[in-house]
Amino acid sequence: MRIYINEAKHHVGEQVQIAGWLYNKRSSGKLHFLILRDGTGLMQAVVSKKEVPEEAFKLSGELTQECSLIVTGKVSEEPRSPGGFELHVSDVELVGKSEDYPITPKEHGIEFLLDRRHLWLRSKRQHAILRIRAETAAAMRDYLNSRGYVNLDTPIFTPNACEGTSNLFETEYFGSKAYLAQSGQLYSEAAIMSFSKVYCFGPTFRAEKSKTRRHLTEFWMLEPEEAWLDLEGCMDLMEDFIVEVVARVLDTRAEELKILERDTSILERVQKPFPRITYDDADRILKENESDFVYGDDFGGTDETILGDNFDRPVMIHRWPADIKAFYMKRDPDDYSKALAVDMLAPEGHGEVIGGSQREDDLEELEKRLKEHDLPKKYFEWYLDLRRYGTVPHSGFGLGFERTVGWICGTKHVRETILFPRMMYRLEP
Ligand code: 4AD
Ligand code: MG
Repeated sequence: MRIYINEAKHHVGEQVQIAGWLYNKRSSGKLHFLILRDGTGLMQAVVSKKEVPEEAFKLSGELTQECSLIVTGKVSEEPRSPGGFELHVSDVELVGKSEDYPITPKEHGIEFLLDRRHLWLRSKRQHAILRIRAETAAAMRDYLNSRGYVNLDTPIFTPNACEGTSNLFETEYFGSKAYLAQSGQLYSEAAIMSFSKVYCFGPTFRAEKSKTRRHLTEFWMLEPEEAWLDLEGCMDLMEDFIVEVVARVLDTRAEELKILERDTSILERVQKPFPRITYDDADRILKENESDFVYGDDFGGTDETILGDNFDRPVMIHRWPADIKAFYMKRDPDDYSKALAVDMLAPEGHGEVIGGSQREDDLEELEKRLKEHDLPKKYFEWYLDLRRYGTVPHSGFGLGFERTVGWICGTKHVRETILFPRMMYRLEP
């Protein structure tokens, strides 16, 4: 019977087959110890000269790192072995050889590894990060699905900008121009007028000329949007959402977090309430920390690190100078110079993981904003219709998925949190 390594506990004493790749090997005279991996775990297979055909013993001695193979044997409990179980081998079959595998247990430079991302994925650390990525995505979907948010997918080809025109990817579209989506938000705003609560979760694109640990040109964004929700409600949602998602990953992916040597006590502190401070408060904190931050600007990477590290859990910064925020954000009725915007910053230098806001729901105000931002009204007529026909107060946010996964995993750079990272200087493999 063919089993996966993580099913071994149900098959103690049985004869089984395991198909996988050779992770490592040790030999000592009459014994070969093969460490197999199959995506579900690691398992030691013991090949003893007196228990296998001569051919199989010889073959085992010649197996090389990352060759694929099928091993037959009996499962036994072995607390000292990785995973706690061992296979006493009766036969070994080589399926695909692997000669001079380029990624060896020694240290390699980052460019060397990124050039070989297709192979690097197999390493223990990368496997753990991507496993956590998948779990985080599942946790996020479960949170929203179980609370009645409808998952609808927004288009990638768009005729207009959502988050400013400076980092748009332009492409030819049958004789006219199209842009790759920077966000699904505007389309989700249309969808809430039909469903009340929706979310989209997909790839978004920004021609970022920044070579930082936090920037990709193609990244995934999870964006809930909700009718009748104000800025306070939006902050409540962001907070509750992050608390539940982090708790789920801590619970179900403890093993992977251990592989990553993540200090989980930092994640255990992710409990309600998160501090909520205004942009003006943030300015004061920066000044106290001798930053050369200028009031009215957006926070730079260093400022975000200072602000994030000022608290022991994520911090929400709200009420931003409207001038530096997107056209669709509603103004604060108590201070017209401010937008009802909120950013959530994660600690440990991971920076802005979420950006959200209450949306402008008034037709005339929105028309004014489009003009101020020099955006072509004709492409936004449909968006203005949402204010013409049954407008409602509404809010939503966009969570940068790779930054969030990077924070949970404690990785230095977001490039390790996506299968094949796309950055300013990297389109391959
Ligand atoms: O703050 P942003 O630009 O917000 C929006 O796009 C809104 N339309 C979202 C909404 O309200 N529905 O982007 C949202 C998040 C950021 O907080 C950040 O975490 C992430 O997306 N992000 C990036 N992540 C990786 N690489 C980049 N180049 C990113 N740019 C933004
Ligand atoms: Mg933002």
